[in-house]
Amino acid sequence: MKFFIDTADLAQIKEANDLGILDGVTTNPSLMAKVGIKGEAAVMNHYKTICEIVDGDISAEVVSTDFKEIIEEGKKLHAIHPNIIVKVPMIKDGVKAIKWFTDNGIKTNCTLVFSAGQAILAAKAGAAYVSPFIGRIDDSGWDGVQLIEQIANIYAIQGFETEILAASIRSALHIIQCAEAGADVVTSPLEPILGLLKHPLTDIGLAKFLADAKSFK
Ligand code: G3P
Repeated sequence: MKFFIDTADLAQIKEANDLGILDGVTTNPSLMAKVGIKGEAAVMNHYKTICEIVDGDISAEVVSTDFKEIIEEGKKLHAIHPNIIVKVPMIKDGVKAIKWFTDNGIKTNCTLVFSAGQAILAAKAGAAYVSPFIGRIDDSGWDGVQLIEQIANIYAIQGFETEILAASIRSALHIIQCAEAGADVVTSPLEPILGLLKHPLTDIGLAKFLADAKSFK
């Protein structure tokens, strides 16, 4: 399973990248706004900086909803760096645009996916990644991890090559459950990734080893 970080915060991207386990980055307009990036030029420049930090797939989201405008915006994003994946929303013009990008050799990430039907459409259009938002599904009283499992089964039965990118991750447990459910990628904020490190018995065991090791010196 690949690990992406879901943030536009450069310090957090660098910290995750320094761990040596990072395969890519996802962002969205809300994450860009959160770190104070405003205006097209600043957004483009920020994506370029992220591509220079991480050697992996970097999702850059379009903010257009009309087919022709999505294509124009996606082409501009794709031109920033070869690792840019154009992130397109799950709407009618978005599906049409994903097919156009696929036919023209531009990889896409279909975002705002909340159902198996939407995931089937994204795969049919040839999206490289499909992003089910599992935390937001849980927030609404449904089971986000169950959706990952359902999509993984459908893609396996049908032979779809679209990778399942579990997004809207809220915890370390979500990451583990997504791995069990068959996600190809998890995109997570830094905290849940670091949460995977934690176990009290590791801390207790290490403290004992270090204390005992003092007798060797
Ligand atoms: O990048 C899309 C997704 O991961 C957003 O997550 O926490 O805003 O539901 P969240």
